[in-house]
Amino acid sequence: MQSPSRPRQVGLALLITLILIIFWQVPALAQGPTDEQLELGGRLYAENCAVCHGSSGEGRVGATLSKDWPSIRPDLRVRTVIEEGVSGSPMPAWSQKKGGPLSDEEIEALTLYILSWETGGVPPLPTLAVTPRPPITPIPEVEGDPNRGAVLYDENCAVCHGSNGEGRIGARLAKEWPAIRPDLRVKTTIERGVPGSPMSAWGRTYGGPLTGTDIDDIVAFIVSWQASADMVELVPTPTPAPSALSGPLGVVVMLVALLALVVVGVIGALARRE
Ligand code: HEC
Ligand code: HEC
Repeated sequence: MQSPSRPRQVGLALLITLILIIFWQVPALAQGPTDEQLELGGRLYAENCAVCHGSSGEGRVGATLSKDWPSIRPDLRVRTVIEEGVSGSPMPAWSQKKGGPLSDEEIEALTLYILSWETGGVPPLPTLAVTPRPPITPIPEVEGDPNRGAVLYDENCAVCHGSNGEGRIGARLAKEWPAIRPDLRVKTTIERGVPGSPMSAWGRTYGGPLTGTDIDDIVAFIVSWQASADMVELVPTPTPAPSALSGPLGVVVMLVALLALVVVGVIGALARRE
């Protein structure tokens, strides 16, 4: 009986490695959130939730989300809160069933994204790359710097009122205000909020995060919509979220595997020729 030649042993070893890699890869792809889900979740989070919960879930106006959830099925708990909101708190309901803007699929992606913080595998948050707005000419009788206000608006208000004040969860702000001094009316609403609605009080005096100057600047910006029709879009540029071996790394592994196949083939052919 002839013992297998050296190249054949090497080939066999390579083949076994290859099979192991593939079998290890398949479950990694089958379970857990897909890249698409994490990417969608991250984008939706940046657009809708980071303003209150912080960009890494550390909590701001809203609760801390990057934590270990004490329930057995944290996914159900997180999903329900996102769908239904927390009544009597600034946490709005997000599901379309409850009058919110998000589909079931989007809420699923958000839930998976938030729960991924629990395992410590924090996918990087997509950065909101804000197209600079064209310079805004201040309205003479209105105090405040509309250009600084625009930046504050994008950070705090666009999430609910839309980047052009077109309205989302929050009311439409790009409109003709029926008051004689719309700036004063808008300012009071921002300072005090609208009790019993998701519109919280933003003024320091009322427990909010913004100073008087901040609010004056935002008001100048909001009121400037009456005079202009410039539209600007907030475009998130998502950074790819690394997960297990799927994604770019998965592709690399597959390429290596293909290469290994070719090597095995060549070695096999050589061995047969001997
Ligand atoms: C306007 C601010 C605000 C926004 C925007 C907001 N939240 Fe909240 N969220 C809150 C507050 C406040 C609470 C705490 C409510 C309470 O329990 O009193 C909360 C609670 C939660 C909880 C439950 C936390 C816990 O410990 O039980 C989850 C989950 C959550 N938010 C997810 C989201 C997601 C996802 C989004 C974006 C789609 C979002 N939130 C947007 C303010 C906000
Ligand atoms: C979590 C969502 C949310 C955020 C964030 C938010 N708002 Fe609101 N806002 C609302 C809702 C909802 C209303 C409508 C309240 C009502 O009348 O029931 C509202 C109402 C208003 C109104 C009154 C509109 C009118 O027609 O009288 C103004 C002005 C306003 N918001 C400005 C702001 C500004 C400025 C910011 C940022 C500093 C901000 N909002 C942040 C949800 C939000």
